[in-house]
Amino acid sequence: MFQAARGTADILPEEQPYWRYVEKAIDGITRLYGYQRVDTPVFEDTGLFRRSVGEYTDIVQKEMYTFDDLGGKSMTLRPEGTAPVCRAYLEHGMQNLPQPVKLYYVSPIFRYDRPQAGRYRQHYQFGAEAIGEGDPALDAEVIDMAWQFYKSLGLAKLSLQLNSIGCKVCRPQYLAALKDYYAGHANLCNDCKARLEKNPLRLLDCKQSTCQPLAGSAPASADFLCPACAEHFTRLKKYLGLINIPFTLNHRLVRGLDYYTRTVFEIQPEEEGGQSTIGGGGRYDDLIEELGGKPTPGIGFATGIERIILNLKKQGFTAPETPGLRVLIAFMGEKAREEAIKLAARLRLSGISAAAAAGEKSLKAQLRQANALNVPYAVIIGEDEVKAGTVTLRDMSGARQETLALADLPERLK
Ligand code: HAM
Repeated sequence: MFQAARGTADILPEEQPYWRYVEKAIDGITRLYGYQRVDTPVFEDTGLFRRSVGEYTDIVQKEMYTFDDLGGKSMTLRPEGTAPVCRAYLEHGMQNLPQPVKLYYVSPIFRYDRPQAGRYRQHYQFGAEAIGEGDPALDAEVIDMAWQFYKSLGLAKLSLQLNSIGCKVCRPQYLAALKDYYAGHANLCNDCKARLEKNPLRLLDCKQSTCQPLAGSAPASADFLCPACAEHFTRLKKYLGLINIPFTLNHRLVRGLDYYTRTVFEIQPEEEGGQSTIGGGGRYDDLIEELGGKPTPGIGFATGIERIILNLKKQGFTAPETPGLRVLIAFMGEKAREEAIKLAARLRLSGISAAAAAGEKSLKAQLRQANALNVPYAVIIGEDEVKAGTVTLRDMSGARQETLALADLPERLK
């Protein structure tokens, strides 16, 4: 027997109400903040992710689903959503639209991660990107949007972690200080020994027991900001205060992707901390240029839908049921079957959700099925009803029934 691949999951009908609930909240929040939907392909040129996410990140080094297509081109299943949106922004000349351009997506993301609760090899992200404006007011608006999104879902006890990791002007001094600090510790994990040379920022989010305790006393990026970055950060904090978004400064927060500049943030369940982050994002002012465009700032965030649902369930939340089938038409005999088929088609054309029973079940078994399906109404057609041009309508909850003319049924059901 085949099974779904490790780290992937079927989203079965009984789970769907949670997904519809989250999707509805996404519709609501994106409309409120003026974001338009974009859908990009599931796979892209591998170079796009190497260039943007960064050669020495875990995602690029260990987690990408990369393959050569039959034409010999290296392709990668999207391991994150920001780079494809920036690629689309450039490809479709969106720099000529009024800036910032505000786009959102809901899409499957693929990472060869170690599967565990809330961590999958295919997961879904809702992400939003605001491209073409560097004002810290936009950082505050994006963070506010993320925060209000979780609030609109009813997610409680979240904490917002905030940091600034500077820009290409001030980052080098910070990286030098980080290198100095970590070089003094001999027992780094093997990955971190390599990171120390190639990408020292990544040491701060290493989860290994050898390295994690060191992050607490490491130099803080916020202490190395150039005047422009410091001003940006100060204004962001002020704007967040103006709109009452509570945040915690976290100088260890660097995020796992290389394209970030200045603002980085994460939203975590209060009790569990960084391992179960439900959303995160930040500014990426150099990314569009890195992908071949003219210098264009951007900021965005993304959140994993499975993690949202996991947290909603932990809180004891039950998603509202989505309505199922309304009418099942039961019948006795061949003539009645034909009437049932025609009637089901007619009801559906008038907008009433209906199905005719199928197969060779007895009338009793057909009604049992209506019960099991939780269908509120059954329509019964027997030989007598066929002759008289009537049907019997049964209210399944009270087991009350009435006989009426076939032609009157759609109106009566409505
Ligand atoms: P990220 O933090 O890598 O950011 O992923 C965003 C969210 O996706 C995480 O907070 C988490 O909820 C969810 N997630 C990540 N990996 C998994 C996984 N293996 N299984 C389940 N859920 C997962 C980004 O991808 C950036 N593109 C966010 C961004 C947008 N930055 C700027 N704009």
